[in-house]
Amino acid sequence: MSDQLIIFDTTLRDGEQSPGASMTREEKLRIARQLERLRVDVIEAGFAASSNGDFEAVRAIADAIRETCVCSLARANDRDISRAAEALKGAARARIHTFIATSELHMEKKLRMTRDQVFEQARQAVRFARNLCADIEFSPEDGYRSDPDFLCRVLEAVIAEGATTINIPDTVGYAVPELYGEFIRSLRERIPNADKVVWSVHCHNDLGMAVANSLAGVKIGGARQVECTINGLGERAGNCALEEVVMAVRTRRDYFGLSLNIDTTQIVPASRMVSQTTGFVVQPNKAVVGANAFAHASGIHQDGVLKARDTYEIMRAEDVGWAANKIVLGKLSGRNAFKQRLQELGIQLESEGDINAAFARFKDLADRKSEIFDEDIIALIGDESVTHEHEHYRLLALSQHSETGERPQAAVTFSAGDIEYSASSDGNGPVDASLKAIESKVRSGAEMMLYSVNAITSGSTESQGEVTVRLQRGGRVVNGIGADPDIVVASAKAYLSALNKLHSNAERVAAQG
Ligand code: KIV
Ligand code: ZN
Repeated sequence: MSDQLIIFDTTLRDGEQSPGASMTREEKLRIARQLERLRVDVIEAGFAASSNGDFEAVRAIADAIRETCVCSLARANDRDISRAAEALKGAARARIHTFIATSELHMEKKLRMTRDQVFEQARQAVRFARNLCADIEFSPEDGYRSDPDFLCRVLEAVIAEGATTINIPDTVGYAVPELYGEFIRSLRERIPNADKVVWSVHCHNDLGMAVANSLAGVKIGGARQVECTINGLGERAGNCALEEVVMAVRTRRDYFGLSLNIDTTQIVPASRMVSQTTGFVVQPNKAVVGANAFAHASGIHQDGVLKARDTYEIMRAEDVGWAANKIVLGKLSGRNAFKQRLQELGIQLESEGDINAAFARFKDLADRKSEIFDEDIIALIGDESVTHEHEHYRLLALSQHSETGERPQAAVTFSAGDIEYSASSDGNGPVDASLKAIESKVRSGAEMMLYSVNAITSGSTESQGEVTVRLQRGGRVVNGIGADPDIVVASAKAYLSALNKLHSNAERVAAQG
């Protein structure tokens, strides 16, 4: 058995399924480039048949990424698989990942299919896919809750049809480590052609055990691929967190005995990029990528670390990319330095016009903030006024007044397409007043599900405030993000950004629906 562990990143597919985490094509491309720098083995770029937007995103990633295998999800039918193959045409290395549910519950209640129908459909899907692509992954959805005898029958058949990877999802996060590991082991032992494929684990985190289950699938079950997402992003409680699996396998090489292709110094930059793009904030005490993950607050710990680092540290902060948090540019930096830093961060803007717009925003920021960090640049590039993505609404001006004992007032000017609006309102606070002023003109009818403010760079009031606003309307959930040294302005930007996403009506088919 190989001693190489394949890291299959599904941030852009399963992670993106998390309500509100949906990303634009440009955002996905930016993250895909970072995943390539991180040297994951496979990037699941999306679910090409689910929407035109996702098709285009998979295609753009397949065309741009040269080192890493790019994969698209597809339900087990000819149309989905053909769409995936079409989107992946330009890939240097492509994989089609096809799936169908195999648990009694899913087959009967969701698919309304018999066992024999599911068996036939799985087999035909893999046969069809194999004619289009040499690298085929098959997943029995809700595999962990499926009848093992039936699962063995299906998996043996799809391997015989040419599947190259078999992935066993714990779709609802029901597994516990030992049992999940044994489950994988017994499938591998019982299926006669099991040695022809790579076995993979895919765990959801509903009981907080996704990482532990995945590692048990590797250690006990002999899996050699882990499916995971940056920051554990994903529906409900999320997926298995890439950074935790990677650092566990690396730090405990003595136990796992496995090697990885990952460049761990790219972990924190990837974590930041995903969090800033989706608005899903990383909790401070999150392993590896949380702001406190390497902070020793207690005197005893600090003393110990100063005397000998390994008294309290099992990993080095710089090995996972914490050192990357450096001041990069300032007020006097020129366009070339800015352009070079964009390149180093893997950010590619489409045209010179976009670079000029970004540079203008950068200069504006540098006038108000003396030190510009990588995170500031990433946030700035995410700004729709730079990318022009979905930019129907745009903030033009904002003023607000708040005073102890007085009800706060705000006046906002923004454009909607070619029309300019000015509105004013009072509110419980200046943010509330600003958003009410906008809403008095837009009348979106959207319900606000989340409002949060974070400092983009740690620990100082000089940092830019990054605001996330989550809106829901008609079953659609979108996140808007805005950054500015003034958090009232950041809030208005975030609100308009969410409205822009609601305005661009992309619908998609859910993978597990
Ligand atoms: O969790 C799951 O079952 C999935 C499959 C589509 C692989 O994400
Ligand atoms: Zn999943």
